[in-house]
Parts: sequence; structure tokens; C-alpha cells
Amino acid sequence: MPGERAILASFISEEKIEEIKERSNFLQIASEYVTLRKIGRNYQGLCLFHSEKTPSFTINEEKGIFHCFGCGAGGNVFTFLMRAANLSFPEAARQLAKKAGVELPREERTKAERQNQQERERLFQVNQLASEHFQRLLLNSREGERALKYLQSRGLSKELIVQYRLGYAPEAWNKLLSWLTEKKVPLSRAERVGLITPSLKKKGDYYDHFRGRIIFPIFDLQGRILGFGGRILGQGQPKYLNSPESSIYQKSKSLYGLYQARESIQREDGVLLVEGYFDLLTLHQHNFLNSVATLGTALTREHLDILKRYTKHIILLFDADEGGKKAAQRSLEFFLEKELSAKVVVLAPGYDPDNYLREFGAERFREKMKEAPFLIDFFIEETAKGFDSSISGKAAAVVEGLAPMVARIKNLIERDLYIKKVAEMFGIKEESIRGSLKQPRKRSVEQVGTERVADSAPRGAEETLLQLMLEFPSLAARIREEKIVELFSDPVFRKIGIKLLEEQEKVGKMEASQIIDLLEDEQSQRTLSQLSLREPNFSRKNFQKIFQDCILKTKLNDLELKKRRLLAEIKEAEEKKDNPRRNNLSLKWQEVISLQKKLRRENVSG
Ligand code: CTP
Ligand code: MN
Repeated sequence: MPGERAILASFISEEKIEEIKERSNFLQIASEYVTLRKIGRNYQGLCLFHSEKTPSFTINEEKGIFHCFGCGAGGNVFTFLMRAANLSFPEAARQLAKKAGVELPREERTKAERQNQQERERLFQVNQLASEHFQRLLLNSREGERALKYLQSRGLSKELIVQYRLGYAPEAWNKLLSWLTEKKVPLSRAERVGLITPSLKKKGDYYDHFRGRIIFPIFDLQGRILGFGGRILGQGQPKYLNSPESSIYQKSKSLYGLYQARESIQREDGVLLVEGYFDLLTLHQHNFLNSVATLGTALTREHLDILKRYTKHIILLFDADEGGKKAAQRSLEFFLEKELSAKVVVLAPGYDPDNYLREFGAERFREKMKEAPFLIDFFIEETAKGFDSSISGKAAAVVEGLAPMVARIKNLIERDLYIKKVAEMFGIKEESIRGSLKQPRKRSVEQVGTERVADSAPRGAEETLLQLMLEFPSLAARIREEKIVELFSDPVFRKIGIKLLEEQEKVGKMEASQIIDLLEDEQSQRTLSQLSLREPNFSRKNFQKIFQDCILKTKLNDLELKKRRLLAEIKEAEEKKDNPRRNNLSLKWQEVISLQKKLRRENVSG
């Protein structure tokens, strides 16, 4: 969580963080979550971030790094605790500091940050107060009786109603307003979370936002209330009225029911994702505890990032209407991007999980889940249906609809199987599909060079160079001098390399566990933990020779890329009949070729 880290960095110094890390007993902390066994220089256990039968979760105490060779999770003691206990960076820092006996100076927080924090806490308090008010009205008031009956008539038990702290806002303009005034809550604060609305008629006056509605509080992972959903009691418009977004509530990052569901999601290693408040509650009522709901918004990447912490298996339940189907299809892109497995259940028209469960029961519903197709298969079928069966219709379906999606499948074997499937379905050759995968989107000339090279050899060399630097820091000098890292074709390796060198320059050493905190994205963190724990392919005896080879490979690869880029530019110049530019580029091309030759010669003789 880079944002939080930045905030934290402003009130806990880098040195403090390092101190915490050094004084923390990583093994002991990890042992609270995983049973570890010593194997060679490392400790291993069953990964808690994915389900597995043979241990691939690895910790190296000396390096302060963990990595799971099964699911790719990796990082240092901070990253570990954040994920294992679901904490933010500051929370993890506090917890680790306490365990390790490191004093955290509170005063280092700036005044603005303290105020910001206080403001957030106050907003949560207002929501909490309002929720108590709504809850009391539902459970213990004459006005609430009808609402309570309604909820029970929809199959929700009293326990569930209490557990989810459902409430009722009666048909009145100032019930909540008077309660908050009585509690001496500044009204502007209640306005900021959207509980009351300023009156247009009378300046300084307010009225209740929620009237005549069932209230669903939305919790964050600590059980604080972010905002509310409100369903009209009976018929009327709009059916749902919700809290507006506020400084504490963002719908694209919140999931209804997650607070209650997360343990079960982790235990079952799967989650059911639905669209409505009632769907969610009915699912929980029928003991499908591993369910969450979006909040009247489309599914976002952020939602998936949150769910990914608990499971990689997601079942989508969408309404049968066109909108639901489209939404499911649109989300496929995110799932492929995040390498999450998604299945989809489309219920018959007129049904949502809530009325389906109440009409057909949990067993039938469970069957539906079992039969659920993978989202990508669903997508392929639907795309095929959406185009006419003429030749040009088929071609359009493949080129416009399917190829761009198939190209996003990261697992190569899986991608291959899907190419086969599409080929069979449309009666075309696999090669034709492969051909159209090569240009999924039009790329500009500049982008060609930054692309990952398909050939894994240069990446191998780049990875080994990073491993070598970590193992033998003195080698960094040459890498720095010859600007080798800048030549890396893999953007992640490049980023890690740059950080390693920066860190060596700044603090005189390079340690993976420190660098991990400086890397802002998860992929880089995983890559670094992996390469620092993976057995290197060099030894004390031969590392000089390997170092030499890897440098050469990296340079040659860079030249190869330069050639490709130039070639593309030359073609472009030719198309535009721009002769001067073309000639100029050809000269450059010659230069690159002679550089390549020179390098090869030197290295054969040397
Ligand atoms: N929703 C919303 N605003 C609306 C309509 C819907 O925010 N005006 C969101 C709510 O989160 C709602 C979800 O979309 O729960 C699904 O809407 P819908 O299927 O219409 O409602 P249900 O949850 O099924 O409610 P009910 O079963 O009571 O009709
Ligand atoms: Mn419904």
C-alpha cells in the first residue's frame, strides 16, 4: 500500500522502520500463522495465502524475506504481517514495534496528519451514533415494527438482523437530526457523511437524508461504519438511496459483507460476489458465509485487489438481464489481468440470489455454483452468439471480441488451450488466431522497445545479474558504470535494479528486505522476494564468469531490441516516403550492427 507507506514515512522515519525490521523476530511472528520446518538454510511451511498440500511457503531468516513458490506472494516481515493479519502498513508497523520493543515517537506526526486522522475518527463516530439510532428504531420502536416484519417476511432472522446491525429510518424529516443535535454532533460533520442534507428553503437548516427506509450499515475491515444503504420500505422511488461518497467512504473500494465474510472466504478459498444487499443477507442467512456484495457500482480493480488477499477463486452472480451479462463480461478483463479465477452464474430471468434461494433452497443453489462455467468460457459463448454466423461476422467476433481477451491470458498453457477452443468453435486455423493475437492493440513505435521480450534468455540474464548484485555487492560498481540496469528489457527487473543501486549509493548497502519497502507495486515486491530466495545458478567458484556472460547477454539483447525498434521506424519512414529520415535511420542501424559484431568479437577473444 504505497499511499499509506508514504503517509507513514512522514511520521515514522526510515530509520525507525529499519530498526523495527531488524529487531523483529520474523520466524516467531510467522510461526503464529504458519507451522515452519527448517529445510537447509530456509524454513518452510504451508502457505497461508493460498491453499496447498505441500509446503512452498519459504522464509529466510537471515535475509528477512519470505516467498511462496506456489502463489508468488512475497516480501518482508511488514508485508507478511499486513497480509496475514490484514493490517495497513501503519498498523503493522505499530504492532511490530510493540513486539520488538521499539518506541514510536507519536510527535513525529505532523499537525495536519493528526487533524486528518481525528477528522476521520469523528466521521466514523457520527456514523456509529446514527447506526445506533436506526437500529434502536428498528428493534425497539412502534414505528419500526412494520420494517422488522418486512425483513422477517423476506426470510431474515432476528440474529442476522442484529449481526448486520440493520436499522430503520422512519418516515420523518428530522428524527436523526434531533438525535444528533441532542448528542451535540456538529451538523456540518453529519452533512459531510451525507446523513443530513442542508435545506434549500431555510439557510442553516437541515433534514434527514434517509426517510422511510431500511438501513444497511457498511463496515470496513475493522468494523467501523463507512456509510449506509437505504431501501425503501415497500414500493416507491428510488428503491435504494445510499450514503454519498465521503472522505471515509469510496464505493469502488468497499464491499458489503466483507467484514463478516472474510474468515469464511479464506477458509473456503473462494468467494461469491453478488450485486445486492438483500442477496448478500439471504446468502448469509442460508449459510453461504463466503459472500460479499458490490454497492450499486460496477466491479472495479480495487475490489479484486481486496478479494485477492483472501482467495483467488471468485464466483460472480449476476442478474440475468443484458446489463448483468455485460457487467460480467466487462469484468473479465480485470480477472485476467489479476490472474484470478472467475466463474459466473447467470440465474434465470427474474431471479436474483435472494429470491432464488428462498424459492429453490440452498441445495439447488449449491448445484448452480458447482455447474458454474468459467467466466472466460461464458464470454466466448456469448461473443459467438452476439455476432452473426456469416464469414465476416465470425471474423469480427474473433478479431474484435475474442482475440484481445485471449491475448490477456497470462498463463501460456491456458492461453494455448483457449486458442484451440476458439479455433474449433469457429472452424478456423489456430495459426490465424495466433496471428491476430500478435497485434491486439495498435502499438506506437516507441512502445515496441519497452515490451517484454518473449525469449526468456535475456530475462534470465537480468534476473541473475540482480541475484549476483545481492550476493556480491562489489559487482554493482561495474553494473553502475556501464549502465547495465538501464538496458534491462524487463521493466520489473529494471525497477528493482535501479532501486538496488540507489540504495547502495544512499546507505551503502543493498538488502532485499529493505528494498521491498521501497518498491511500490506488489509485482516488483514478489519478484524481488522470489529472486532473493531462489537457488542461484552461480557458485562462489564461477560467479565471475557468469557475471561476464550475463552482462554480455544483456547488452546484446538491448541491441537486438534497438534493431527491432529501428526496423519499425524504417518501415514507417518508407511508408511515408520520408527518405532523409529513412537514410538517417539506416545509418543508425549499421551502427548497431557493428556494435553487435564488436561485442561478440571482444567476448570470444576475451
Ligand atoms: N442499487 C442502488 N440504487 C438503486 C438500485 C439498486 O444502489 N436505485 C444497488 C443496491 O446495492 C442494490 C443493488 O443495486 O442492493 C441491486 O439492485 P436490485 O436488484 O434492484 O435490488 P435488490 O438488492 O435485489 O433489492 P430487492 O430484492 O429488495 O428488490
Ligand atoms: Mn432482489
